[in-house]
Amino acid sequence: MPDKKIIVVFGATGAQGGGLAHAILNDENSEFAIRAVTRDANSDKAQQLAQKGAEVVTADIDDPDALKAALKGAYGAYFVTFFWSHMSPEREMAEAKVMADAAKEAGLKHVIWSTLEDTRQYIPLTDDRIPTLMEKYKVPHFDAKGESDRFFIEAGVPTTFLLTSFYYDNFIYFGMGPKKGADDKLLLTLPLGDRKLAMIAAEDIGKAAYGIFKKGEELIGKTVGIAGDHQSGAEMAKAMSSALGQEVEYNKIPSSVYRSFGFPGADDLGNMFQFNHDFANEFNGKRDLNFTKMLNPEVQSFDMWLKESGQRIPLG
Ligand SMILES: NC(=O)c1ccc[n+]([C@@H]2O[C@H](COP(=O)([O-])OP(=O)(O)OC[C@H]3O[C@@H](n4cnc5c(N)ncnc54)[C@H](OP(=O)(O)O)[C@@H]3O)[C@@H](O)[C@H]2O)c1
Repeated sequence: MPDKKIIVVFGATGAQGGGLAHAILNDENSEFAIRAVTRDANSDKAQQLAQKGAEVVTADIDDPDALKAALKGAYGAYFVTFFWSHMSPEREMAEAKVMADAAKEAGLKHVIWSTLEDTRQYIPLTDDRIPTLMEKYKVPHFDAKGESDRFFIEAGVPTTFLLTSFYYDNFIYFGMGPKKGADDKLLLTLPLGDRKLAMIAAEDIGKAAYGIFKKGEELIGKTVGIAGDHQSGAEMAKAMSSALGQEVEYNKIPSSVYRSFGFPGADDLGNMFQFNHDFANEFNGKRDLNFTKMLNPEVQSFDMWLKESGQRIPLG
């Protein structure tokens, strides 16, 4: 496949990058080939990608030389950072800066930067409605990504800025699924009030990214928001009840209570949900369901995802 355009996919063994890598590898007529970046080429997931036809290369995003080497000769790249592996916004921004500079140096023609809002553009640090964290952030894992957009702009990299959404998969992997309350009832505990949240299946982010690469030029320089559904906590609980065959109740709590849960990142996530709530119109308005469907015709609604994957939600 020497004439195919190479897309370098970071996080190719993970949720977002894996969705993109498999979407391209599953399409035998694709104009693109995949170069999958991993830190361990021998892992099962890396081997699976290799068996499906990906070129697998080893690089750590904290190693600028390895990152640059991974981009050589490529047409494009999918850049995602891994905030929760270190929880440092400064480190995430440093990684994004290296990505942007390396993309410029490699002369990439189309980059997708997996980003989120810099919430400080909506609520300044001086506004105490959402507490300031680490002295400089409202929602550290959002703000660092949003602030990093400028590295791609300043470097002059042809970039599509991809605003992702809350993963449905968080109910499986991130401990956010329903938990048994005092009376044994399953409670879905979220500080969302009665507002809706833009959500998506993690793999559908990668599939939408494939749609963006296919559109090419048209989406360069644009910010593109994606979601598979917009649902309130009560709607999520209702959908879970019918998919799981057990009653799930929405336990609406204040974001201050969520922040006080004490697990690492609880304050960041409490602030995120408060931002989702307080700026629901803006946040959801940027993540249009029909536009997402145009990029990824297979995009799953929450009901569709629950039907397929709901049984994997641990009910504790
Ligand atoms: N959870 C949500 O609702 C949500 C929503 C929107 C955005 N996000 C953002 O999504 C990002 C994470 O993306 P994801 O969910 O796709 O990640 P993921 O599923 O955790 O996958 C990350 C993959 O990337 C690789 N990786 C991790 N650290 C690396 C490093 N230092 N250098 C190179 N590769 C590394 C790992 O592969 P190897 O082990 O093979 O190297 C791993 O399989 C976070 O920044 C988060 O803030 C999350």
